[in-house]
Amino acid sequence: METRNIALITGVGRKEGLGYETARQLARLGYKVVITARDHRKAEQLAAMMLHEHLDAIAMELDTTDADSVNRCERQVTERFGRLDVLINNAGVMTDLTSTIATANLELVKSCFDSNVFGPWQVTQAFLPLLRRSAQPRIVNVTSGMGSYDDPDFGLHHFPGALSTYALTKLTFNALTVKAAKELKDERILVNAVCPGFTATYEGLKEQGARPVEDGAKSIVWAATLAADGPTGGFFRDGKPLPW
Ligand SMILES: NC(=O)c1ccc[n+]([C@@H]2O[C@H](COP(=O)([O-])OP(=O)(O)OC[C@H]3O[C@@H](n4cnc5c(N)ncnc54)[C@H](OP(=O)(O)O)[C@@H]3O)[C@@H](O)[C@H]2O)c1
Repeated sequence: METRNIALITGVGRKEGLGYETARQLARLGYKVVITARDHRKAEQLAAMMLHEHLDAIAMELDTTDADSVNRCERQVTERFGRLDVLINNAGVMTDLTSTIATANLELVKSCFDSNVFGPWQVTQAFLPLLRRSAQPRIVNVTSGMGSYDDPDFGLHHFPGALSTYALTKLTFNALTVKAAKELKDERILVNAVCPGFTATYEGLKEQGARPVEDGAKSIVWAATLAADGPTGGFFRDGKPLPW
């Protein structure tokens, strides 16, 4: 039986991404990390890179929007470990960058909701039975300050009228976090939303003021490693509560 805590992270498809850095940080803390991506080869390459650093990880395919893929991955985790301690819903997309509420292509909007809301919802449903077998289950939903009303820099009230589709999906994901936390509280499953902050996961973002990926991932790791008396149903960056 695996005695280490087992964490599964979705959307670990890029070495520059928050998912990969989160996996590295958790592995350094002694977690057994299951890194998943919709392209299995990408997850395998990244797991191999981690092994090269003597960090333990295994790769699985998981497309969060594909029920068969989600169920296949859940079966693999069941067979291999029989439980899950931490689920990190990190996968997400930022499509339809230039649309406004007035001009948005609603088919693209729906597909963004599929990726950023219904995908992680489906993953959460699939893995709940395995989380229930954990002594200290945690769910971390990687959302965004853009999905709040009052984040001073990125919130709906403050950020200029761009990226509306992305903001609406993350707002919904924040709300889903609150409802899930309430529902699962009696089962001691801590569910929190984390905004990693504006993070340099793509070329050119550092020059625009984005912070290093190590810092963004630290916020996610904080919520993944909360003690039993830690918060649930909250929204955090750097371990500090954010306005909704
Ligand atoms: N970077 C920031 O400033 C920032 C700020 C706030 C919140 N966030 C959030 O942080 C998370 C990670 O973002 P990131 O900056 O690290 O960008 P990223 O590297 O693009 O990470 C997103 C990952 O999600 C994967 N993905 C998309 N749809 C998927 C699906 N259906 N199934 C499985 N995987 C899927 C992508 O896979 P492919 O590689 O196959 O495309 C990609 O690897 C996202 O949820 C994002 O919204 C980021």
